[in-house]
Amino acid sequence: MLDNECPIGVFDSGLGGLTVARCIATSLPHESIYYLGDTKRCPYGVRSEEEVRSFVLQAGRWLSARNIKIMIIACNTATAAGLRIAQQMLPVPVIGVIAPGARAAINSTRTRKVGVLATSLTVRSGAYTRAIQDLDAGVDVYGCPAPSFVEMVEKELATGAHLQERWLQNGDVFDTPENRMEVERTLAPLISGGVQVDTVVLGCTHFPLLAGPIRHALGPDVRVVSSAEETTRELEDILRRRELLASDDTVPMHRFATTSDNIAEFAAAGSFIFGQPLQSIEHVSLDDLSER
Ligand code: DGL
Repeated sequence: MLDNECPIGVFDSGLGGLTVARCIATSLPHESIYYLGDTKRCPYGVRSEEEVRSFVLQAGRWLSARNIKIMIIACNTATAAGLRIAQQMLPVPVIGVIAPGARAAINSTRTRKVGVLATSLTVRSGAYTRAIQDLDAGVDVYGCPAPSFVEMVEKELATGAHLQERWLQNGDVFDTPENRMEVERTLAPLISGGVQVDTVVLGCTHFPLLAGPIRHALGPDVRVVSSAEETTRELEDILRRRELLASDDTVPMHRFATTSDNIAEFAAAGSFIFGQPLQSIEHVSLDDLSER
């Protein structure tokens, strides 16, 4: 039986969705969260749409069995491939991050030229172009695939134990000369291709972690937006309309599950992104997920 105290299910291919979970935890401090990161099968962005769609359904069924009141697909790639089928098949409302990302882009652009930085699968799916042009058909959308970014982030995060310390020292562990170079190389079509976007939407939940090098490459005239805040607003709206918001006296529980075999690494990197220690982490085997 669904009630206000039930957790919000949040799903991502790995750690990136914690950028969205963090925003939810900050903006809706009484809400409980059940996060599932399919780290073992990350990255999704290089896989086929069909495969990712089946992973989304597995995750959705696993989370639904944990009595979630709503599911957020906090992964653009998984949203592009599986939002529709998840909405059709799961017993709870499901929201993705692409429509909110599109709204953030529309609210920001003045020149009506928007760049979308995302995984290859997301760009190829055309989901962002459709979502943005559904809001304003006159906006030109330039997709820019960034196939190496997810691995860049995951590689940096794998140094887990040092993250907290290094972050405290220099403020941004991801803003390194090597990352700046790779980001500039990837963004070249947007920067020097003569397309003159005034807004770039980070169409992958891993990418806010690379905001430093991305902002540096794009320069001060281009706004960089992501979907976390808009997604949280939409979530709050849906919960309010369904009278499912947690009451102000609820003590929230934040639970985390991962398919990774390395819980310590997930805990260190996850705490860094979530902005507070991940207290309760469980391992989920791929057999457990794929039974569903
Ligand atoms: N964080 C996912 C997204 O928002 C991508 C990571 C992946 O490729 O698995 O698209």
